[in-house]
Formats: sequence, C-alpha cells, structure tokens
Amino acid sequence: MLDNKNVVLGVTGGIAAYKACDLTSKLVQQGAHVKVIMTNSAMEFVSPLTFQALSRNPVYTDTFDEKDPENIAHIELADWAHIVMIAPATANFIGKLANGIGNDMLTTTLLATKAPIYIAPAMNVNMYDHPAVKQNMNTLTERGNYFIEPQAGYLACGWIGKGRLEEPQSIIDSVSKHLQQASLLVGKKILISAGPTREKVDPVRFFTNRSSGKMGYAFAEAAAQLGAEVTLVSGPVDLVIHHPNVQRIDVTTAEEMYQAMHHYFPKTDIVVKTAAVADYRPKNVYDEKMKKQPGDMHLEMIRTKDILQSLGEEKQHQFLAGFAAETENHIESAIGKLEKKNLDAIIVNNVKMDGVGFAGDTNAVTYINKTLDHTEIPLASKKDVAEQVLKLIVRDLKQGDA
Ligand code: PMT
Repeated sequence: MLDNKNVVLGVTGGIAAYKACDLTSKLVQQGAHVKVIMTNSAMEFVSPLTFQALSRNPVYTDTFDEKDPENIAHIELADWAHIVMIAPATANFIGKLANGIGNDMLTTTLLATKAPIYIAPAMNVNMYDHPAVKQNMNTLTERGNYFIEPQAGYLACGWIGKGRLEEPQSIIDSVSKHLQQASLLVGKKILISAGPTREKVDPVRFFTNRSSGKMGYAFAEAAAQLGAEVTLVSGPVDLVIHHPNVQRIDVTTAEEMYQAMHHYFPKTDIVVKTAAVADYRPKNVYDEKMKKQPGDMHLEMIRTKDILQSLGEEKQHQFLAGFAAETENHIESAIGKLEKKNLDAIIVNNVKMDGVGFAGDTNAVTYINKTLDHTEIPLASKKDVAEQVLKLIVRDLKQGDA
C-alpha cells in the first residue's frame, strides 16, 4: 500500500523520536517517498541530519525557511502528501491540531493538507489518560484522523502503563491495513438520508417522530472513512459532521427530502435511506397559531410521497438500500418492503428491542439482499453497524458485476 506513496512524516518532541528514524528507514525500504518535518522540541532529541540521510530528502523545521521563491513550502508539502504520519505525537501537538493552531512548520502543513492523517501518540500514561488529551483525540477522530494506539509497558519516564510509541513496523502495518480498507468505496458516490421529517400544522406545532439521525450520520461517517463521496440529506437533528468527504443538505419536510433525494439520485451509485419519513402530513397548514376551541378537534391528514418507492421506480444503475423500522413480523414485513419498493437490500431493525432503533447509540439489524440472503448484525455501535452494512453492500455490488 505504501509503494510509490508520498509520505510526510511529522516528528514531535518526545523521547520516542529516535524510533521515528527506524520508521523513516522502513518506509523508504517499502518504496515510499518520505519527507520529514520536525518540531523544535523534536530537534532536542534527534538531529535533522539523521532524517535527511535516512529519507534522502531535506528535512523541514521552520515555516519561514522558504528556500524556493516559486513555492510556499508548507503548502507545497501539504499538496504533495498522499499520506501524513505523525510519530511520535505529543500531547502538546495533539492539542494544537485539535484546536486548529498553526504556529510551526508541522501544524501549518497539517492544516493545509487534504491527505489522510495517521497519529501515533507517545507520552506518559497519566498524560495519555488526561481528559483534555482524550477530548482532543476524540475531536480529531471525529474529523476523520486515525490514531495508532500506543502500547502499554515500561515508559522512559519510569512509569508503567499505556503511552509507549507503537513499534515502527506495527505503525506501518496499521496504516497499510487502514489504507486498504479506506479505499473500499473510493470513487463511489453515496446518498444517505437521516433523521426525522417535520410536518407543520401552524407556526408553533408540527408532527415528527423519534429519529435522532444517529444511524444516518453513522453511515455518512463510515462511508466517508471508506473513501466514498457522501451526500447526507438530513432532517432536523442535533448532530454535526465534520468529515471533508461529506456534503450535508438540510431539509425539514418529507416533500423537501423527496426533492433533495431526487436531485442527487441520478449521479449516485449507492443510496442508504435511514430517514424516518412522515407517512402523513396535515392537509391544511395554518398561517396563524390555531386557537383552542371547546370540545375535541379533528385534523385531516394526507399521505406524503413514498420517497424510497419513487427512487425504486426510477432506479437504473443505482444500488438502493432502505431501512425498515418494525415492531412485529419484522423479517416478513421487511421483505414485503424490499419487493414493493424495488430495492437491492433492506436493513430491518426490531425497534421494540432494548438498544435497537431510535435515538440510542447502538443498533442491531438484519441485512436482507435481493436474493433474500439474510445477515444478522448483532448489537453494536451505530458506526460499527454502518460499517458492516456498507461492506455487505460492496459484496453485493461485486456479485452484481460478476
Ligand atoms: O435516527 P435514529 O435515532 O438513529 O434511529 C434510526 C432509525 C430507527 C430511524 C433507523 O434505524 C430506521 O429504522 N429507519 C427507517 C425508519 C422508517 O421510516 O421505516 P419504515 O419502515 O417506515 O420505512 C421504510 C423505508 O421507506 C425507510 O427507508 C424510509 O426512509 C422509507 N420511506 C418511508 C416513508 C416515506 N414517505 N418515504 C420513504 O422513503
């Protein structure tokens, strides 16, 4: 995976900087072109000359050391990189990157790059466990950066615990494995719908449902991390998504979701429709707040369009996957929807079960494809469920090509 790849290796100031020399050498031996950026603190531990000799390239240490008037060095490096690796990554560096600080050659390059970033931390065990460091790592993970966990063992500071830089060969193996996975959906355009819709009655009231959008957002994040170009059509939810491969389109009503889905559908390869769309909406929408009247009231509700079914009718090359939220006879009902809506797959969740379906962070589903082959995905985080479903979709796409 690393042969002929341009790797920017960032080395920050920790005792494990000496292991970055071995990492540089191993990357070069595997055919990678390596350019090293060192922070001032890293140079307290290892000389730039060591990395220059091992990488056979100049080492970058200063944002203002502009040797070539034709180019700005940190932008040129940022654009040149296919992959960025940071080893060792200190708590200070992780904090700076999480907070968007660019005050040296390494951080300015990282803010400018579009390449995937792999971070191998190394620090004292208590620093590694510090809530601020954990929060910074979570922020970076949510933005699509990938961490290579440190090992537990004897640390140079004398403590025993987690914080030792992963061995260079293991860092390379993790990055290679991740790159291989990350390319699973490269070149594919995925359209995902998420969350509820809201159907207005008057300026203060609307009909909606319990969908939080978490399942759809998990799909968007997982698909982007597998290399897809994602369009996320989102109902009103309280979630954010940062991945650069995700374009988010906000909608409110079923009709707006219908319009957005049909707009992006022709240029889409795969559709995953997790949204819980209102089946009915009030026939009349009032401009003023409806006043309380004596006695009961009746609202006339009319059917919304079935978006998934309409996509099934228009389908050409697209792989169309729907969701089914069921409380009884879930497999039979899901198969009914698969056939009626002309789907390639349906993912059914029995939303009466604990930890399954609406609002929580977990789900358990059955994936059923056109040949009615079932795959059970047991209770797991919504992100894991999304990843497993996407891998099944890729399997079925390949079988369709065969
Ligand atoms: O958002 P979360 O809180 O994470 O919850 C996730 C979820 C429970 C919403 C999700 O896992 C799920 O089950 N989504 C489908 C919900 C649903 O509306 O199911 P359904 O069986 O009523 O609809 C079947 C399919 O038709 C769905 O893909 C739905 O998007 C689609 N549909 C339904 C009605 C309609 N008018 N248009 C549609 O496209």
